[in-house]
Amino acid sequence: MKEELEKIKKEAENSLQELKSIDELEKWFKEFLGKKGKLSRILKGMRNIPPDKRPSVGAFANEIKEFLKKEYSLKEKELKKAKIEEELKAKKLDITLPGRPIGPGHLHIVTQTLREIYKVFASMGFQIYEAPDVETEENNFELLNIPAYHPAREMWDTFWINDKVLLRTHTSPGQIRVMREYYPEPIRVILPGKCYRYEDITARSEHQFYQVEGLAVGHNITLTDLKGTMINAAKRLFGEERKVRFRGSYFPFTEPSVEVDMDCILCKGKGCRVCKYTGWLEIAGAGMTHPVVLKNGGYDPDEWTGFAFGMGVERPAMLKYGIEDIRYFYKNDLRFLRQF
Ligand code: PHE
Repeated sequence: MKEELEKIKKEAENSLQELKSIDELEKWFKEFLGKKGKLSRILKGMRNIPPDKRPSVGAFANEIKEFLKKEYSLKEKELKKAKIEEELKAKKLDITLPGRPIGPGHLHIVTQTLREIYKVFASMGFQIYEAPDVETEENNFELLNIPAYHPAREMWDTFWINDKVLLRTHTSPGQIRVMREYYPEPIRVILPGKCYRYEDITARSEHQFYQVEGLAVGHNITLTDLKGTMINAAKRLFGEERKVRFRGSYFPFTEPSVEVDMDCILCKGKGCRVCKYTGWLEIAGAGMTHPVVLKNGGYDPDEWTGFAFGMGVERPAMLKYGIEDIRYFYKNDLRFLRQF
């Protein structure tokens, strides 16, 4: 039996030297070391040798097996290296080939619009305050005078994280944060940010969108200040000839509340598909800060008054650039984005 083993070892060694490819090497492995290979076949014959000789024959067989395995991996390394070298020779690298140009990037249309808005409000003395997207239900609802079970909660379909934490449905919860941080200073800030609503996505509404909130708190702030601010912003953002009107409305955190409209920039107020033949476009919700909200922010409503507004960002950009579908904004389609 030992002789037989020796023979196989020789045979394996010899044929290993002839191998030229990994494929051949695998075949070799099967032939000699595989489950049904020559070595295994011989070891099956162990039954026929006397028991006292079995251990030494077994040990010898294992020695050969280990030896051949080592030879196998050495050969494998050698063949792999040869293959890489061959490939490198065949595919010469042409370093004179010009690279593919990567064009300069530019700001996203929403970022550009936001920056225009910042500029206009900065010139009226508003600072930017950033509040978090993940909010407490307290800030998003409770402290804005929208208690649990208040029907007004239905105005904002909510993505809840748990029963106390949510994705803000509007930028208004930032008002509470600003007031609590600024008290007892007067306030004039805008709060830009993304808002989230659990709504169907359509050409007109996304479940993620930007708002820019505004808040001014001081000793003699009146509705006239709100009107002046809105009129100035509309003219600066959409053209000096814009007309602005205020309609009575309802928000739980402002009293009185208004809806701010401007004349349609497409038909100039004559009536068209975009303004649904009314001649007017809604640009913001706004109002005088509700006394309860002032109090929740730490400001005594007998001494302080304020106004707040919340305007959309994508919608006005759609109007300005004639974009027909809000879903384009966040699809990352360069054919769309490159146009702005
Ligand atoms: N938060 C309101 C909304 O999302 C808008 C608003 C802001 C209204 C501030 C009044 C004052 O609909």
